[in-house]
Amino acid sequence: MTVAIEFKNIKKQYRDKTILEKFNLSIEEGEFLTVVGSSGCGKTTLLKMVNALIIPDEGQVLVHGKCTQEANIIDLRRRIGYAIQGSVLFPHMTVEENISYVPNLWNKRDKNKTKTAVKKWMDIVGLDEDLLKRYANELSGGQQQRVGIARALAASPDILLMDEPFGAVDEITRTGLQDEIIRIQKESNITTIFITHDIREALKLGSRVLVMDKGEIQQIGKPDEILSNPANEFVERLIAREVNYLTH
Ligand SMILES: Nc1ncnc2c1ncn2[C@@H]1O[C@H](COP(=O)(O)OP(=O)(O)OP(=O)(O)O)[C@@H](O)[C@H]1O
Ligand SMILES: [Mg+2]
Repeated sequence: MTVAIEFKNIKKQYRDKTILEKFNLSIEEGEFLTVVGSSGCGKTTLLKMVNALIIPDEGQVLVHGKCTQEANIIDLRRRIGYAIQGSVLFPHMTVEENISYVPNLWNKRDKNKTKTAVKKWMDIVGLDEDLLKRYANELSGGQQQRVGIARALAASPDILLMDEPFGAVDEITRTGLQDEIIRIQKESNITTIFITHDIREALKLGSRVLVMDKGEIQQIGKPDEILSNPANEFVERLIAREVNYLTH
């Protein structure tokens, strides 16, 4: 097994507040890691370290063996798809231009290739072609999120970072998108880190689930390990909510 992403002894603080300390984690190529934990515990901070949007105060993040601080940022980010929390689209670009942004960098001479790719991803995330010429402020929150997901995937990344990507979509669409992302990930074997507030979503999608609280790993394991053998009270409480949901 090859390691795709490695957090080595990470420390990160904002002013005098320490968010992460002595944080260590290895993610293997092809893994689908879901991250669940309380608000403000450092999930987004961790994710942004992978594409060097945040640099740790101490320690290193290695992506395919290379330290993010030493890597060429453009090369690094070109290989990483990022669906941002809250789905931030480029406001001055249409849906089509948003999704085409990265593929266009590659297919400079072959615009049709990009057009076909955009159609494919629009279809996968369940967006109507009518929306192609719309701007972000002419879309609903859930539509914007789906464009954000399509944009992240259209870059054909080998690492996919998703920060609560399904937060603003209704339950039925969400279930469909979950099934779709499982399928895409299985087929393409993209190393994926997926943050969610929803333990059910984390258990459904992840090949491994990381449970965090206050910047610390509470437990990391396969979904069935987490369910059958919660490491502490925090994890137990998270799962209790899940069991409640299933039995009520
Ligand atoms: N630029 C910043 N300056 C100061 N504090 C920050 C900054 N960015 C994040 N924080 C703080 O660091 C902590 C961790 O933030 P982070 O965004 O990683 O949390 P999170 O786990 O993703 O939370 P959520 O589930 O709400 O998205 C929070 O307490 C947040 O307020
Ligand atoms: Mg966050």
